[in-house]
Amino acid sequence: MELLKKKILEEGIALDKDILKVDSFLNHQVDVKFIMDISMEFYNYFKTKKIDKIVTIESSGIAPAFATAYRFGVPLVILKKQHSSILNQDLYETKVHSFTKNTDYMLTASKKFLNEGENVLFIDDFLANGEAVLGANRLFKEAKCNLSGVGIVIEKSFQPGREKLESIGIDIYSLARISKLDKGVIEFK
Ligand code: G4P
Repeated sequence: MELLKKKILEEGIALDKDILKVDSFLNHQVDVKFIMDISMEFYNYFKTKKIDKIVTIESSGIAPAFATAYRFGVPLVILKKQHSSILNQDLYETKVHSFTKNTDYMLTASKKFLNEGENVLFIDDFLANGEAVLGANRLFKEAKCNLSGVGIVIEKSFQPGREKLESIGIDIYSLARISKLDKGVIEFK
């Protein structure tokens, strides 16, 4: 998405080889009109599939996922992160490791909101190592939902997330794919 690349070049701050700050429009302050434009891109790519629910993980995925759910006219389900296992029989839960933040968390969803046979589209702000999507997919499998696709706002293509997800047949659509980051350097694939 050319408009997103332009926005990243104008407003993004590459802190080092790994981290791009996009606080001004995606992660902290949200450019609502711009996020609505982003959601239209996801809608146009995935609209031929039957989508019953949009799913994301708190917190930064919520804005683009909310807008995409609005486009599809379906509910948004927000997977929650807990510090430790809470072993509740009403929840699906799985442990996820974040390489970026070097922490583990428990990803959870209420059994009420993921139902057998539903087709879900997963939307998130960043794809780095793919662990969040893989964790979400474990919950979908437990709930017997089908992961119809993954929409990502910013993919860091120099990290292994895309390869891991493609290797298990997941359809990923990333609006911007970054091939290189460094202090003051942002390059697209
Ligand atoms: P993975 O899911 O692809 O394996 O990625 P990883 O765990 O390594 O990192 C995911 C978390 O780190 C997400 O935040 C994601 O938004 C954030 N993140 C990854 N790379 C970048 C980056 O270059 N810039 C920024 N700004 N964030 C990045 P989270 O833990 O889900 O927390 P939240 O911020 O959504 O609350």
